[in-house]
Amino acid sequence: WNESALSIVVVGASGDLAKKKIFPALFALYYQDMLPNHFRVFGYARSKMSDEEFRELIGGSLTCRLSDSKDCGRKMDDFLSRCFYQPGQYASDEDFGALAARMSEGEAGLAAADRLFYLSIPPNIFTAVAGAASRAASSQTGWTRMIVEKPFGKDSESFKQLSDELYQHLREDQIYRIDHYLGKELIENLTVLRFANLVFEPLWSRQYIRNVQVIFSENFGTEGRGGYFDQYGIVRDVIQNHLLQIMALFAMEQPASLDAEDIRNEKVKVLKSIQQVRLEDCVLGQYRSRTTKGTTLPGYLDDDTVPPNSITPTFAACAVFVNNARWDGVPFLLKAGKALHSRVAEIRVQFRHVPGNLYRNKLGVDLDKATNELVIRIQPNEGIYMKINNKVPGLGLRIDSTRLDLTYKAKYDTHLPDAYERLILDCINGDRRLFIRNDELEVAWEKFTPVLKEIEQRGVQPELYPYGSRGPVGAHYLAAKHGVRWGDLVDDE
Ligand code: BG6
Repeated sequence: WNESALSIVVVGASGDLAKKKIFPALFALYYQDMLPNHFRVFGYARSKMSDEEFRELIGGSLTCRLSDSKDCGRKMDDFLSRCFYQPGQYASDEDFGALAARMSEGEAGLAAADRLFYLSIPPNIFTAVAGAASRAASSQTGWTRMIVEKPFGKDSESFKQLSDELYQHLREDQIYRIDHYLGKELIENLTVLRFANLVFEPLWSRQYIRNVQVIFSENFGTEGRGGYFDQYGIVRDVIQNHLLQIMALFAMEQPASLDAEDIRNEKVKVLKSIQQVRLEDCVLGQYRSRTTKGTTLPGYLDDDTVPPNSITPTFAACAVFVNNARWDGVPFLLKAGKALHSRVAEIRVQFRHVPGNLYRNKLGVDLDKATNELVIRIQPNEGIYMKINNKVPGLGLRIDSTRLDLTYKAKYDTHLPDAYERLILDCINGDRRLFIRNDELEVAWEKFTPVLKEIEQRGVQPELYPYGSRGPVGAHYLAAKHGVRWGDLVDDE
């Protein structure tokens, strides 16, 4: 009798993200007994659908981690029986009122009713939905929280407008801004690695680190999402949010505690110390079609939803600097691209040369390849490894560069949760550590808005690169200008 009811409403329930990520994550949480006893899930969208049709729609995308689990089918049915569908217009108080009436049915007799709205909808209707939902369907007896997805604006001005509008309906502590990269296992581990080990933190500065690379690459194009993507481009889609967030966690000072506000204060602080990104420190690219072995891989402009003369970048590499005592002069190279040769996301930390190295002459000609490098592989094949120089066993003295290797799948016999599982669970628990605070975004936009405007005003042409390649050559020149070699490309050699 003292338990609370939890209603989770997915607004935009028929969209791609909802189907691929949100409902599977909710089921995975249920499957692991992580949801409260009295939870119900509501899909909300404009199209008409019965509860049964809705269950069929989402049922197809649910999976069980342990496919041989006997319980799986039963759990899926149980979960689906708690899923309901409510059709409604996005800006309608009346329709959200009807939703609230249905939610109340399951909340009767319980101590409190908590309501979580997941806004999986385009940004132009964020505010209307937040307004209607908060007016007509807020909880009277428990908490009301809303998860919102990027894009949070396109530049400083549009971000500010969106944020002011949201504040008309919600308090900051009700808004959970998702950056799903923060929900990835290796990103959550970044602060553990730094602050719970003695061996890394003392090296974590300009004194020992030559450069840091944050690399995101996908081996597929914008297939099907060209219409959305073309309005944003890779800098807004990946660099200004996912990669910058990783950089902030990597570069921040130790927070006073693990409390969400302490962590986010440190992130804001380091973001403020970042120099504004300059055009001469960015390389832009766009993939073009390529024919290999008789098949043609489409170029960005071949996507019907992309305007024929679009110069929107699908690849960008930027050198970013942090003006503080710890990082002065250390290049942070952020690189992101679509339709490249592999799918990988990783952080690479290249250390300085060993001063007065006794083994200098044994390390081969390429000292660069012989310096230590710490690699945090976010995905796929999650892991952490450190490149070290080691004597090849046997007579004589031969040294090679090898790895101290913590590959997760070799070490941990467990399936890694999807980022959305972690983040939705955190939101239910009111844990805001992995969500973005308004002022973080404000600073993030400040750093990128001028360069984005300059790119657009000048009509900077992206360098074309073939689908499936390693990206534009300009990225090498950018790295070389800052005395850097891309670690991922060296590894591929
Ligand atoms: C999204 C971007 O935020 O992240 C997409 O909009 C990108 O363009 C995606 O493909 C990558 O996410 P993940 O988790 O698959 O690496």
